[in-house]
Amino acid sequence: MELLKQHLIAKNPVMEERFAQTLEENTTYARQLLTNDAAAKTTANDITIPVVFHIVLTDAQIAQLGGPSGVAQRVDSQMAVLNRDFNGTNSDVSQIPADFKAVFGKANIGFALAHTDPKGAGTPGYEIITTTQQGFEESSSVGSGMGFSSGKYVNGPATSWDADKYLNIWVFNLLNNGSASGILGLTMPPSFMTYGISGLTKDELGIVLNYGAFGKYGPGVNYFISGINGGRTLTHEMGHFFEIWHVWGDDNGKCPGAGGKDDGITDTPPQSNATYGCPSYPLFDSCTKTGDGIMFMNFMDYVNDACMHMFTAEQAKVMSSQTLAGKESYSLILHPELTSWPTGVSNIVNAANVFNVYPNPSTGSVNITLLQDGVNNIRVTDITGRMVENIMVDKSQTSYAMNLSGQPKGMYIIHCNTGNGDAVSKLILQ
Ligand code: ARG
Ligand code: ZN
Ligand code: CA
Repeated sequence: MELLKQHLIAKNPVMEERFAQTLEENTTYARQLLTNDAAAKTTANDITIPVVFHIVLTDAQIAQLGGPSGVAQRVDSQMAVLNRDFNGTNSDVSQIPADFKAVFGKANIGFALAHTDPKGAGTPGYEIITTTQQGFEESSSVGSGMGFSSGKYVNGPATSWDADKYLNIWVFNLLNNGSASGILGLTMPPSFMTYGISGLTKDELGIVLNYGAFGKYGPGVNYFISGINGGRTLTHEMGHFFEIWHVWGDDNGKCPGAGGKDDGITDTPPQSNATYGCPSYPLFDSCTKTGDGIMFMNFMDYVNDACMHMFTAEQAKVMSSQTLAGKESYSLILHPELTSWPTGVSNIVNAANVFNVYPNPSTGSVNITLLQDGVNNIRVTDITGRMVENIMVDKSQTSYAMNLSGQPKGMYIIHCNTGNGDAVSKLILQ
């Protein structure tokens, strides 16, 4: 059973019915769209949702991921996997068994890193927040106290960026009584705001990823939980964010029509329980005993990353319909501009206290010394706003050398993002 739902049902059995109602509403709405051409045309096309990663780890854990450059690689590979899987351009669709190809679906939802932060300053779309806490427990006394919420307030205030505009993803070390948790990811979808959960605010909406399930394996990118190195945990969690649930329906092995509810989706075959590892097709169970068997290669099962390849058409429709006017994720599609870098400069912080740049004027070799903690990234733009350099700041390092000798002579602007606005300074290349 989905962890958050399980906890809420344990606290209040009425929740089981409420979850079932939400599922029924969402699938009914999506099915109407499936059969109603006019409405279907208004579903998600050309959608770009701004995404931000809050990476809350110890220095040692960041080092495990390859330091700031390793983290940058994970973020980029993670975004590539997410977009590919949500648009059905993953090359392993070729491995979908022929009979399931007929129900293969594309959600057509696009995601992009945020490049304008809530204060209007530039951002790489992720922030590394170092902590001395070794990780976070699923239950706590902070916020809703569920779903690793304490990590979302690691230093007190919420780390989330306005959840109406940004899709927030946190990367944590997930703990279970002080030891590594087996949980790969967990989602707090917007629908949970409707259940009156005590302590829950929109600051907790979004997705938590285990740092060993974040990004995709590539040369020099190490530390993955075994079998979970393809970036598919985020694909799966994003399915939950857009209101689709596990293919087996989290109904303790029961089958639809025999006491079970299944996943409410008609084009996924009935399935009794989760599938792990990497089975070969066809695979039968007590709910689907013949034909093509169960659809274990669906992103909403629990198989290894390399063995999951698809959403179905109806799953895709439920997801994309959540972005329509009046539905819970509509506001997220209204701010594609947040995925562009700001061209102007906003919320200027006094640069004299934040950094030095020398020599200036320069012939191309430029040194920057940071004078205070808290700078997240250093960016250089030309006078048209075109970015020519973008450095992710490593907290342990105060000096940065850049080589801009390939750039045309003229005036540039150096931006140091303090998390509280940009400190800016002119730079002359001559
Ligand atoms: N166990 C997690 C969940 O239920 C995610 C499973 C992801 N599976 C994977 N192969 N990455 O939300
Ligand atoms: Zn799940
Ligand atoms: Ca089904």
